[in-house]
Amino acid sequence: MSFVTMMEGHLAWGDKPLLDNADLAVEPGQRIGLIGRNGTGKSSLLKVLAGIEKLDGGELHTQNGLHAVYVEQEPYFPEAPTVMDSLVLRGKLDELPDEKMRWQIQSRLSEFLHKFGLDENLDLKKASGGEKKKAALALAFA
Ligand SMILES: Nc1ncnc2c1ncn2[C@@H]1O[C@H](COP(=O)(O)OP(=O)(O)O)[C@@H](O)[C@H]1O
Ligand SMILES: [Mg+2]
Repeated sequence: MSFVTMMEGHLAWGDKPLLDNADLAVEPGQRIGLIGRNGTGKSSLLKVLAGIEKLDGGELHTQNGLHAVYVEQEPYFPEAPTVMDSLVLRGKLDELPDEKMRWQIQSRLSEFLHKFGLDENLDLKKASGGEKKKAALALAFA
């Protein structure tokens, strides 16, 4: 069963549609690259798939229990000494009422940061744009 299915999707901000009768299915295990010129609607499509923007027309079905996370083009990192401290604030992990859940997410986050070759104690001010992007993805996966 598909994670996400879009049928006859339509989206327009002005008169020129970004999505015009667009069909898409995202299957488990797929890795999809989205290529297109600037301003043609890549980010808008991702926002629709993540449930941040709504289609003007057509249908979007997401599998029950699916949790989609949208990572912005230039992720926002709250002021903090280290990348990890900032990610805790970005993900509002410190506001989770369940201590065990917070611990689990934080340990998964450490694993992903390690997998992506990032030092969680990296000084936030010294982190490059690419390192921040990877860190934001690690949080999304966690
Ligand atoms: N919230 C919005 N309101 C009005 N216009 C928007 C909005 N979001 C995106 N657009 C416009 O839609 C077009 C596609 O934007 P976007 O999806 O960011 O393209 P891409 O990611 O492919 O560069 C652009 O012309 C952009 O200005
Ligand atoms: Mg974009």
